Formats: sequence, structure tokens, C-alpha cells
Amino acid sequence: MALYSEKVMEHFRNPQNAGELADADGVGVAGNSKCGDIMKIYLKIDGGVVSDVKFETFGCGSAIASSSMATEMIKGKPLTEVLQLTNQAVAEALDGLPPHKLHCSVLAEEAVKAAVKDYCDKNNVEYPQKEK
Ligand code: FES
Repeated sequence: MALYSEKVMEHFRNPQNAGELADADGVGVAGNSKCGDIMKIYLKIDGGVVSDVKFETFGCGSAIASSSMATEMIKGKPLTEVLQLTNQAVAEALDGLPPHKLHCSVLAEEAVKAAVKDYCDKNNVEYPQKEK
């Protein structure tokens, strides 16, 4: 079996939403001190909904694929739903990651949540509670 799924390879080779959002409403950064990889997520929020999202990831292929997939999963979604994004959901959407690469998807969850927090702090908006 190939180490990486077709989906991972697809998002690695052709990442969606790569780049910077100069007028972002929220920016979140997450890093892993062991591998040194860093992921940055930019959110544009309109009426409590993610109207645009971009990422910059300095890291491995799985981190790039996770960033790409995570941005696709939260685009157009209300913040309450965005906060439900888990690293497992990102990894599953990629048809799985090798066990030693699961931490790459954790960066996506953390960076997205940090970006929402940044938006809330900057705009005096209450951090939305996770829907049960
Ligand atoms: Fe650390 Fe992928 S090896 S984020």
C-alpha cells in the first residue's frame, strides 16, 4: 500500500487556498516544535461566516495537504461549525495519514482555532461555543 493516499498527494501537488490574505480579519499560527513546521491560517469573516480563507505552511507534504483540506472544509461555514473542525476530520477527509504524520493535521485544527480566536479578540466578539 502506498504510504500516502491519492487525496493527500492531490492536495500536496495542487494545494487549494494557498497564499496570504492581506486584509484578513483573523490570523492563526500553529507550530510543532519537534519537526519545526509552521502553519498560518488567514480568515476573512463576514456576518459570522468564513467568506475567504488562505494558508501559508512551511512544512512537510502532509502539513500542506492538511492545510489545503482544512481550508476547503471551513470555507463558507459559520464560526460555530468552523470550531468543530478536528484533526481527525481533516485526516479522514484526506483518506487517512500515516500514524507518524497525524500531528500534521493537528496543526490545521490548532491554526484554524487560533485564527477564530484572533478574530474574536480583535473584534470584541465572544468566542463561539462549540455546538454539542
Ligand atoms: Fe511536522 Fe508534518 S512533519 S507537520
